Amino acid sequence: MSLEENEILEGRQGEVLAREDSSFARASKKLYIESYGCQMNFSDSEVVASIMTKNGFSTTRDVDEADVVLINTCSIRDNAEKRVRKRLTEFKKKKEKNPEMVVGILGCMAERLKKSLLEQEKLVDLVAGPDAYRDLPNLIEEVGTGQRAVNVLLSRDETYADISPVRLDKGGVSAFVTIMRGCDNMCSFCVVPFTRGRERSRDPETIVQECIDLLSSGYREVTLLGQNVDSYRWNVSNKGEIKDKELPTVNFAQLLEKVAKVSPDLRVRFSTSHPKDMTDDVLHAMAAYENICNYIHLPVQSGNTEVLKRMNRGYSREWYLNRIEAIHQIIPDCAISTDIISGFCGESDHEHDDTVTLMRLVAYDFAYMFKYSERPKTLAERKFKDDVPEEVKSKRLTEIIENQLTYSLASNKKRIGKVEKVLVEGVSKRSEEHMSGRTGRNSMVVFPVGDFQKGDYIQVKILNCTSATLLGEVIEN
Ligand code: 5AD
Ligand code: SF4
Repeated sequence: MSLEENEILEGRQGEVLAREDSSFARASKKLYIESYGCQMNFSDSEVVASIMTKNGFSTTRDVDEADVVLINTCSIRDNAEKRVRKRLTEFKKKKEKNPEMVVGILGCMAERLKKSLLEQEKLVDLVAGPDAYRDLPNLIEEVGTGQRAVNVLLSRDETYADISPVRLDKGGVSAFVTIMRGCDNMCSFCVVPFTRGRERSRDPETIVQECIDLLSSGYREVTLLGQNVDSYRWNVSNKGEIKDKELPTVNFAQLLEKVAKVSPDLRVRFSTSHPKDMTDDVLHAMAAYENICNYIHLPVQSGNTEVLKRMNRGYSREWYLNRIEAIHQIIPDCAISTDIISGFCGESDHEHDDTVTLMRLVAYDFAYMFKYSERPKTLAERKFKDDVPEEVKSKRLTEIIENQLTYSLASNKKRIGKVEKVLVEGVSKRSEEHMSGRTGRNSMVVFPVGDFQKGDYIQVKILNCTSATLLGEVIEN
């Protein structure tokens, strides 16, 4: 998942609510919500917005007019936490001028930092963990009576399946749909199993219904979200997600098909796949449906088998390369992206070189690349020394990023002269005379404004590119 983006989650939903919910006009309290971290956090903020609007709140983009300010936080690396802390001190200053304002944190930092943020540093009034969002209206009420309110209980079955998220608009074209929560994998570097709890899948019927609703309100793309989508499993007979192999189940490949069948006009994406669990069935489902996008995010983390063992990833370099081979065999024109961590505990020069050579072999279309950041409670923190010096981590990361830029550019150059089907997302960020959209392979394409709108599918001939963007002309709409 793409990380550490930060966005103010308001957009156009105010207008949508005004149309959908007549209580909007009467709503007196205003909510401001900001999200950090992965797509799952952005999706969760939409669930939070839905819970809050049902309780009489409307959303605002202006923090100064907010009655309640919520920050949906990320703990994945130390710098993500630092950014949130900085933001909280800014809010504290606002609160000094406006003591009635309630400030709360949500998400991954909640459990670990509840004590210090609430009691020692007194930066927030309210703390709610990822499984406690239904409790937010009560928590806010508690704060109103002068208490500091906390709920960080993790659940084994909360999936918010029945909550219809308030869409915080990427132009009303593309939406996230959460299909599962938590993670049972215990990769040694990762804090997610501790912050988000045990893995649980969501009822497929509610997922399909959400996609149908999105299509009928104009959306043309859904991204199915989970920490490890390949272990999605729903037990049909038990109406639950118990992993009993004897009973009929819906697995991820079957769920993908169900969603793909909603409409050929609805593009389907998903994230994140795990190399140890990704099955050929998923790849065959992708090949069988034109509207399942030819794009897989398959985090490798390291190209060296010994490092992968220390990371507790459950696969070797050879296994990973075999999965890449399977993708190329079954889906010939599939784009592949990855996550890479540089400088994990004990990583030698030779082990780092294996990551570099693996990147060359796969020639990823895109990559998210990070320096290892030790996280509290994780297996790595308990078992290994964070012993790669900072400057070595940085040097390795720079090498990895520079290599990736050449692969991304080469990948984009190969598209020049081709005609791509593009879903129009809206006006380009850089120029009013251009619009942008994405190809099935998830490349951003910029093209001149024409007789089409966001949400349309158009055919674009690619004329030029940078390492990040394709540039083209529309040949048919
Ligand atoms: N340090 C650096 N990167 C991390 N990631 C997860 N935990 C850490 C960590 N402790 C990266 C992994 C993962 C992505 C979401 O974030 O690459 O796939
Ligand atoms: Fe973290 Fe590994 Fe789970 Fe991904 S699969 S969330 S990296 S523990």
